[in-house]
Amino acid sequence: MQQLLVRPENMKRIDTPELAKAYIDEQVAAIRAQVGDGKVLLALSGGVDSSVVAALLIKAIGDRLVAVHVNHGLLRKGEPEQVIEVFRNQMHANLIYVDATDRFLDKLAGVSDPETKRKIIGKEFIEVFAEEARKLTGIRFLAQGTIWPDILESEAGIKAHHNAGGLPADLSFELVEPVRILFKDEVRMVGKTLGLPDGMVYRQPFPGPGLGVRCVGAITRDRLEAVRESDAILREEFAAAGLQGKVWQYFTVVPDMKSTGIKNGKRTDDWMVIIRAVNSVDAVTASIEEVPYALLLKIRDRIFKEVKGVNRVLYDLSSKPLATIEYE
Ligand code: XMP
Repeated sequence: MQQLLVRPENMKRIDTPELAKAYIDEQVAAIRAQVGDGKVLLALSGGVDSSVVAALLIKAIGDRLVAVHVNHGLLRKGEPEQVIEVFRNQMHANLIYVDATDRFLDKLAGVSDPETKRKIIGKEFIEVFAEEARKLTGIRFLAQGTIWPDILESEAGIKAHHNAGGLPADLSFELVEPVRILFKDEVRMVGKTLGLPDGMVYRQPFPGPGLGVRCVGAITRDRLEAVRESDAILREEFAAAGLQGKVWQYFTVVPDMKSTGIKNGKRTDDWMVIIRAVNSVDAVTASIEEVPYALLLKIRDRIFKEVKGVNRVLYDLSSKPLATIEYE
């Protein structure tokens, strides 16, 4: 049986745990009716939508969900570990973890053009996922975290809807899309009601190419490490200052550029970390967050102390437009 495809016009916004619970019960029954005793495959990125889809499917069909988490090496600090902890250890999911870091970074070596970087990451992701899918047999269904704004945007011609994740033709599946008719805030409410951790449910927007677009220019492992470590410090300090969930998006960027510094009386030639913190409603425009100066200095001190190869920390004052939120 195919799932309900269109959001009913009079559907009530799911904004309470009770409404979320009713939706969950409804979807669990719908998934069971559609899938029967079959198995379902899912690419689990650890983002809000795929995580909520995973939790719904685990509730409905347990280990007949096969979730594949591809670590492309461009995830934030602690993310792959969190996916394993939440889904394998706590929810006992049938989770396949693929560390494809070397594969991605080898393909990206020396590539500085932003669009080429994005294409390589997207194509490699599909290849890795397809390889895992081919190793499995007897799977007829593919779950996707499509949400209602994806459908609206694709209808309006704004963004192509990535149906079936662009998988090669030999891999054809019937789609299972249990959050298809929900808006983002409703997906979060459902996720919270399903018991997913706040850090997963309320996380800030994060681009598919991950830290790859914040390691501006050709990605190198050491500079990527500087992005990952400085981003972790920024997130920790924003959380400690009570800004988590209040600021739309905040991250660090390390461009492929060095500048002169001084350490222990000797000249250095090191990278710079740029801090970016913006507020937005829909990511179409964005204003900068007025981060307290003392907090910026605290973050600077930690970056200097804990991140290797950095001799400058900058704060980005640019709103969108003229700048975009990401650097690439
Ligand atoms: P920009 O940089 O265009 O970003 O102002 C707007 C919002 O979209 C996110 N973003 C992406 N998300 N894949 C994604 O899934 C991407 O390639 C990508 N590029 C930008 C960005 O983080 C911001 O929230």
